[in-house]
Amino acid sequence: MIKPSKCTYIYDKTFIEWLMRTTASGFQYERPPGPKFKFPYLLSLQFLKAPLTVLNDLATKYGDISYFKFGRQGIYFVNHPDYIQNVLTINQSKFIKNPGLRLTKRIIGNGLLTSEGEYHKQQRGLIQPAFDYSHISTYANIVTTCVEDMCYKWRQTLVTKEAEMILDIHHEMTKLTVSIISNVLFGSNIDSNTTAGIIQDVAILIGYFNHLRLPFIGNIMEKLPLTSSKKFHAAKRHLDSLIFTIIQEARQRLMRADQRSGNFDRSSLNDFAVNDKNSPRDLLSSLILLDARRGKIGSDKTTPSMTAQQLRDEIMTLFLAGHETTANALTWTLYLISQNRQVEDKIIEEIKQVLESNRRPTEEDISRFHYLRKVFTESLRLYPPAWAIGRESIDSAVIGDYTIPPGSVVIMSQYITHRDPRFFAEPNEFIPERWSSEMKSNLPRFAFFPFGGGSRVCMGEPLAWMEGILLLVTILRHWKLELFPEHPVVLSPLITLRPKYGMKMIVKRRCVDDY
Ligand code: HEM
Repeated sequence: MIKPSKCTYIYDKTFIEWLMRTTASGFQYERPPGPKFKFPYLLSLQFLKAPLTVLNDLATKYGDISYFKFGRQGIYFVNHPDYIQNVLTINQSKFIKNPGLRLTKRIIGNGLLTSEGEYHKQQRGLIQPAFDYSHISTYANIVTTCVEDMCYKWRQTLVTKEAEMILDIHHEMTKLTVSIISNVLFGSNIDSNTTAGIIQDVAILIGYFNHLRLPFIGNIMEKLPLTSSKKFHAAKRHLDSLIFTIIQEARQRLMRADQRSGNFDRSSLNDFAVNDKNSPRDLLSSLILLDARRGKIGSDKTTPSMTAQQLRDEIMTLFLAGHETTANALTWTLYLISQNRQVEDKIIEEIKQVLESNRRPTEEDISRFHYLRKVFTESLRLYPPAWAIGRESIDSAVIGDYTIPPGSVVIMSQYITHRDPRFFAEPNEFIPERWSSEMKSNLPRFAFFPFGGGSRVCMGEPLAWMEGILLLVTILRHWKLELFPEHPVVLSPLITLRPKYGMKMIVKRRCVDDY
């Protein structure tokens, strides 16, 4: 807001208003329009119950920027691509992650998703190379093997080749993406009991997190001796001990390899991953190797190697960030395809063309599935697994006509912006064909941001695309999925955008003789 000149407007109403605003409780900022409630917690309760409805109403009633209070916390909701770009990129140094996300520290500690400042920058620089496109191909084989295993189990479940079965596809996709991320992180170095233990603990942690996110009672609830709290703490202790053991074993394995080769410090990840057929392929070993290089021979000799706790936090972060989102993206895509038979026909045609003679899809094929990529993109638009991103300002920042004071929370919602008719014609319709090159070049950068943006953009994006395409190809070429009649498809925006009652589907083989 522009400060009026005192001498010109000494008796002016504007100046008196400004004086009142600036002296009553320190400097006051002009606020965007927004709802006002007699009971400050009313909107918080409504938000917790139906966040998408509340955000949609705010966008409809108050436009591109609105203000409301969550208890005593001032919240700005911005939903214009330029404003989102401002927060995520142009003014990103003025923001940190929002208090809601910081709560997840209780589960994932100080990993990439939650850490800030110089430490985050260092860790991101260290871990990023393991996610570059050149390394993603190492993981493609894991992805295909895991989905083939799942299809094999599905086939075993069928009484006859022609029979059909009813499956909760959300549950199936969660199991699948958990097995993929465990294999990507740990390779074949953990046994099936350990994997089962991890899966069980993670499910309890995620379930409990939904209590923690209640802003004013989450803290209290965690300390109460409730059964759910006890289960949460027990699962966390158990999971931590599993992960610490896995880290210790990986370090010992690498030290043994180091003693044999004598050149552990000088090996780059590339040398290990590509040149040496005995090299570790799992991400945990890659992180330990990269860390060892950084600590001992890198330019930054002063940076100490990661402690077991730091490694644990990064591994837990990648584990959680790397499966929930992808499982939801796949579930929503399979749901949308089941509702649009013409889209399904086009996908099957493309699979036949790209994989003539029924061969297994590989990493090189991914860029050839042009139509399927549009389908996956359109699904991420309509059902973005990360449905909102939040930040807290640590400095004043100007957004549009408003100055946002430090300590404010800013919310940006992919779900709302992705359905804005100013940027997407027929915004609620599933139209993969809309993603033409021309449309993409005219779209404002932050009208579509399923993976966020700026320095905190999703690090797993290349892996997510690779997984998405390979899994959809392998499932759809062999299986036909139909939504179970009258199954309620209801959105549940928790940490990620899930189907509230799962996704019950009738699953049958596409062609009984295909394999
Ligand atoms: C469809 C799948 C996925 C979606 C929609 C998604 C979405 C996102 C979004 C929106 C953010 C930014 C959050 C923010 O700015 O506050 C993010 C961050 C992150 N994601 Fe993903 N993600 C997906 C898959 C993955 C996978 C497969 C991995 C890794 C195995 C991963 C790892 C991460 C990490 C480490 C961060 C934090 C990056 C940082 O702050 O430096 N994600 N993701």
